[in-house]
Amino acid sequence: MTIHSRTPVGLDGVVAAATALSHVDGDHGELVIAGARVGDLAGRVAFEDLTARLWSLARGENIGETEVRQRLGVARARTFERLPAILSAAEGLPIVAAFRAGVAALGPVMGLPDETVLVGAMPVIAAALVRRSRGEAPVAPHLTLGHAADTLRMLRGRPASEPETRALDAYLVTASDHGMNASTFTARVVASTQADPFMAVTAAYCALTGPLHGGAPGPVLDMLDAIGSRENIAAWVNAALERKERLMGFGHRIYRVRDPRADVLREAVATLERTGRDLGLAAEVEAYAREALKRAKPDRPLDTNVEFYTAILLDALGIPREAFTPIFATARAAGWTAHAMEQQRTGRLLRPGSAYVGDMPATSAAGRPGDEAKEPC
Ligand code: ACO
Repeated sequence: MTIHSRTPVGLDGVVAAATALSHVDGDHGELVIAGARVGDLAGRVAFEDLTARLWSLARGENIGETEVRQRLGVARARTFERLPAILSAAEGLPIVAAFRAGVAALGPVMGLPDETVLVGAMPVIAAALVRRSRGEAPVAPHLTLGHAADTLRMLRGRPASEPETRALDAYLVTASDHGMNASTFTARVVASTQADPFMAVTAAYCALTGPLHGGAPGPVLDMLDAIGSRENIAAWVNAALERKERLMGFGHRIYRVRDPRADVLREAVATLERTGRDLGLAAEVEAYAREALKRAKPDRPLDTNVEFYTAILLDALGIPREAFTPIFATARAAGWTAHAMEQQRTGRLLRPGSAYVGDMPATSAAGRPGDEAKEPC
């Protein structure tokens, strides 16, 4: 069977939903979340504040930052109480897969909205898995700390510095929502069937894990490590492109210019006292890769995306690369839950069509290929 190049696939440009949550302008490199530019949010508002804004928009009723902050603290504590049961299915799995099992084990908690349970649980599960991989016991959450501060504290077993907390908070805000990306679309598809938010978020996480989406930052760090020195940049990048490999942290389905989140996170990295990495080398790799991509794909603008500086930032915060995708999920869960709520309020099932390019039975009354009107469900 041939998928012809003229067959429309990939849903490029298809509008799947109307949303008040976020907007991506790929031609001008602009991301608006809950009515504000990402550059005006990161470092200025806390993750709890942005989450409150997203949930308020999705629900159509006002939810305050203080309420969200308090409830997330309670949700982290409740998750910790159930941690042995939540992690029992994750035994022996690598962190990215174990996190999936942990999220899948979540369910309603008396007195807490489902979206709060989900967002609150993410860093508790991620931190426990990181510590388990090091043979360390999990650290109980702190009820009144902010989400970013408590995430780092649970990971490390000791409080993080102010600049580190601010940098992670900036990341959580920056990565909280991003239009109809693959994982958010997945959340909306599941929610559109009227399945509950636990189903929608578990499915969304699965979509996030792939290297073309939220699985990219680990490989970005692998690339920087493999390059290692300035002398090696050109040879490594050129060889990768000659092998037709994709450079991780570059290119985007929507952006035709630089991803605005890359600059926001680069600035967040710059606020840290220590990064443990040669930032000059990383900047030279970025610059060379952008030029090499221009030469290799002159007709397709490929620029730096969010994952390049995500990798550098999370690494600088001491988060192991195996946990980058769960930490991404910790941020994006705000958007997933909001989109699931917004989608359910529409009451509309998401069910796109497909272009049939296979054979038709000789006796079919359906007519021509491409007509799927007779599909049973
Ligand atoms: N490195 C090298 N070549 C690339 C890259 C890249 N990073 N990105 C795209 N290309 C090439 C494709 O191979 C394709 O080449 P071809 O025409 O010879 O087959 C051409 O550019 C056009 O690519 P598209 O198909 O239009 O790109 P698409 O919209 O499908 O891909 C994607 C977007 C998946 C992000 C892609 O750029 C990529 O794989 N990047 C690397 C992985 C990455 O950084 N992922 C994180 C994205 S951000 C996020 O999801 C949070």
